[in-house]
Amino acid sequence: MRVVVVNGSPRADGNTNKAMELIIQAAKSKTHTLEINRYHLDALSLKGCQGCMMCKEPGVKMCIIEDDGQALLRDMFEADAWILGTPVYMGHITGQMKLLLDRTYGYLAPGFVLKLPAGKRGVAVITQGRREPDAYRNVIEFFSSMFERRQFASGECMVVTGTDGRACGDIAFASEVLATASAAGEALTGS
Ligand SMILES: Cc1cc2nc3c(=O)[nH]c(=O)nc-3n(C[C@H](O)[C@H](O)[C@H](O)COP(=O)(O)O)c2cc1C
Repeated sequence: MRVVVVNGSPRADGNTNKAMELIIQAAKSKTHTLEINRYHLDALSLKGCQGCMMCKEPGVKMCIIEDDGQALLRDMFEADAWILGTPVYMGHITGQMKLLLDRTYGYLAPGFVLKLPAGKRGVAVITQGRREPDAYRNVIEFFSSMFERRQFASGECMVVTGTDGRACGDIAFASEVLATASAAGEALTGS
């Protein structure tokens, strides 16, 4: 099973990355056949969608912008599962994650016909300072509807709350985080 892991936080090994690694560990305990490809968006040269509409031309499979997004979007096209992680910034996903996800518009042919193979599995990891798990329903709905519209077989959101004031990495030891990561790992592998 091929899994693409995308860290949308500028912090390479912050809370978001820690939470995603816990999911990977949980998934690995379910299946030994995981191939993991990790990407840190902030370290990539990634342009936003230019609205060129070349992705709607016949025979074009995805976004044509020639930057680091090409390899990542190709990997996402072919992978069986995605783990997408972002901290909440100003009430939404980070700019880095938005740049990438706008470019998944290229997976759609005219009339919103999906070119992306259906049936992938997805987990969105959302970390936030606020303690209320539903403080950012907009972010949960954003990912849930993206998974649904891309015809994923399953699309879960893991919300990690109250990260502010904790040392970076402390979340890895919080029991509630371990439990939700374990459930997310199961959802990812379907076992
Ligand atoms: C610029 C900035 C904006 C933030 N905005 C919010 C916010 O709107 N709501 C919230 O709950 N936390 C907010 N936070 C806190 C982060 O979401 C939280 O600390 C997150 O776990 C950081 O993840 P990281 O360690 O992977 O970077 C913000 C942090 C930064 C740096």
